[in-house]
Amino acid sequence: MNNAFLKDTLSSLSSTPKTLSSRYFYDAIGDGIFQEIMQMKEYYLPACELEIIKNKTKDISEEIESEKIDVIELGAGDGTKAVYFLKALMDVGKEITYIPLDISDNVLKINKEHISSQLPGLKIEPIAGDYFETMKALKERNNPKLILFMGSNIGNFKDEKAVDFLKLVKSYMTAGDALLVGADLKKNPKTILAAYNDQAGITKRFNLNLLTRMNRELGANFVVKNFDHYAFYDPASGTTYSYIVSLEKQDVNIADKTFHFEKNECIHTEVSQKYSIADLEKLSSDVGFKKFTPFLDNKGWFCLGLMA
Ligand code: AVI
Repeated sequence: MNNAFLKDTLSSLSSTPKTLSSRYFYDAIGDGIFQEIMQMKEYYLPACELEIIKNKTKDISEEIESEKIDVIELGAGDGTKAVYFLKALMDVGKEITYIPLDISDNVLKINKEHISSQLPGLKIEPIAGDYFETMKALKERNNPKLILFMGSNIGNFKDEKAVDFLKLVKSYMTAGDALLVGADLKKNPKTILAAYNDQAGITKRFNLNLLTRMNRELGANFVVKNFDHYAFYDPASGTTYSYIVSLEKQDVNIADKTFHFEKNECIHTEVSQKYSIADLEKLSSDVGFKKFTPFLDNKGWFCLGLMA
């Protein structure tokens, strides 16, 4: 049994109000559903980010003086996005070593195959493991580093946690290194809400997969049809909150514990923070970076922010 998952689940469901951690969305099934989310018409984030990568990587590269760069990608995935970024850097003459970090060994194999087939000759040195751990290896590298933390993953850390995470990344950086952070920008609240509340119910499946995963891995007995997905976006704070709603008064057993859910009780599962450019500038300076340069898509919906 996955002990950390069990321990975190028992403690977060014992809190008032109940919560569950979004880090447990990503089992093999959750990874597959997230791929479906990335294809959804309502989930505009990947297309906006890709547009910036395709149109602005040359401008981004001009901010980095060194010809030799180690490009390190946190949570690299299958490399579909990175390939455009790396190609644009190579086109302007940068000599790159690409170091994708990901929890999944399997996804890193796919990443390496994909990138080497598209960019033959590029040096690729994948490192598998939790990036809180694998990042430590970065301090040893001699070339200037460009660290990529894309896909709006920073949005899944709330407030101080985002600052703390970026401070940790910064602690592995030295003078001349830069960090490129992908962040979703504040925009029409209906556009944001739709991205987390799609018509086809794909995000609902993604959220409720947490229950199926607890049934399978922790021996829980959630009746999944007795729960629903609820998302809401607060434009004042720029935070999207996702919940699982208990549709009935019910008891659920996990390990030797029984959890009681009232009808309409909500379990908080995820935050997805949206930023203004000023918010990102503040984030960058709170972390201790001296310079922040934003790169936006044409609609101004997404930002790749270079922190140095
Ligand atoms: C991974 N992360 C940036 C996604 C987001 O937008 O917060 C996860 C997600 N949750 C629901 N839809 C997508």
